[in-house]
Amino acid sequence: MKNFEFYNPVKVIFGKDQLAKLSTLIPKEKKVLLLYGGGSIKKNGVYDHVNEVLKDYTLLEFGGIEPNPHYETAMKAVELIKKEKIDFLLAVGGGSVIDATKFIAAASKYTAGDPWDIMSKGAKVEAALPLGVVLTLPATGTEMNANSVVTRVSTNEKFSFNSSHVFPLFSFLLPDAAGFLPQRQVANGVVDAFVHVIEQYLTYPVNAPLQDRMAESILQTLVEIGPTVYNDPANYDAMSNLMWSATMALNGLISCGVPGDWSVHSIGHELTAIHNIDHARTLAIVLPGMWSVLRNEKKEKLLQYGKRVWGITTGSEDERVDNAILKTVEFFESLGIKTRLEDYNVTIYTIDKIVKRFEDRGWKAMGDRNLVTPDVVRQVLEHQLISR
Ligand code: NZQ
Ligand code: ZN
Repeated sequence: MKNFEFYNPVKVIFGKDQLAKLSTLIPKEKKVLLLYGGGSIKKNGVYDHVNEVLKDYTLLEFGGIEPNPHYETAMKAVELIKKEKIDFLLAVGGGSVIDATKFIAAASKYTAGDPWDIMSKGAKVEAALPLGVVLTLPATGTEMNANSVVTRVSTNEKFSFNSSHVFPLFSFLLPDAAGFLPQRQVANGVVDAFVHVIEQYLTYPVNAPLQDRMAESILQTLVEIGPTVYNDPANYDAMSNLMWSATMALNGLISCGVPGDWSVHSIGHELTAIHNIDHARTLAIVLPGMWSVLRNEKKEKLLQYGKRVWGITTGSEDERVDNAILKTVEFFESLGIKTRLEDYNVTIYTIDKIVKRFEDRGWKAMGDRNLVTPDVVRQVLEHQLISR
């Protein structure tokens, strides 16, 4: 096992009828900005509930944060925060609202230059406004981690940053609000959480059986409950299990002492930046291609994954690897998520563009053991080009 540090200060409040506790978690003297997206929280009742609980606070609001949140929108919130001297941020919604709020929290306190440098150049975040979260969509794990992903529309770039200053102070996880999600977003949530686990698990063995089994248990749970929650998002038990699985998938626990990959995400972010394809769908496209191209390098873990998650125990090693990839693709497609670029009208020109972007940025190699060179990126995407 590798050395590691684990730190996660986020207080999680999970379940029904918990929002009244908001007023015990935000100091009364704070001037609070409620941040939200395109209005789903007004339909599922969460907006009214939050306003009711915080009626004695000075509460301003900033709505209209887009899916794959825009830097340009976030900077408008920063302007409002400075003008109104806001000193507490409350993000209510899905991963996009929460990620934008994290960036806004950091950008509001950033004095060293252009806040976009935090995203594009990895400029260090020295401080951030305190923030709290009310989560209505299980998928990203952002409610219990220190990551944020933001898109700059003017340049079609999607980057992430990570800073312990943007850990939420608390996160309410609301499976009942998620019961209003359209099937498409539920499918996205299952697949995003699934691939988060994969990015931290399907690398190479480092003798970390506990982490492996924790990762496998999340994958097994997602396989078990995925179809139920996809077919009936209002099934509270199934949605609860999806929500907690998604949080556990990316709160730092399963990555302790093991290598990570994250190249599927890096390539996926380009597909979203260029074609606005939903984040999870980009992962479902890239992952099978990655495994097909790096099948030998990742063989040991692919065999373990096939055996423990899908019960694949017979056939040659090559057949078992093929079967593990096939089972994964079938799982994604059973949730209505296509896995080929052609299905999204993406052509070879996009592949050229993505490879050139990586080369221009000097990204010589990504992923575990630096296996993913620009040439591998090309092979992965070409593998996924045509529907079979
Ligand atoms: O904008 P509103 O009106 O709220 O509608 C949203 C949005 O249209 C809707 N929605 C949310 N909760 C709902 C609901 N609709 C009905 N009922 C509810 N209860 O769902 C749509 C999608 O929301 P979004 O927040 O974009 O989805 P998600 O949570 O999947 O977040 C995706 C973003 O997170 C980033 C992705 O790149 C993407 O930008 N990620 C963040 C990560 C992190 N911070 O750790 C890790 C991930 O890998 C990912 O990259
Ligand atoms: Zn993701």
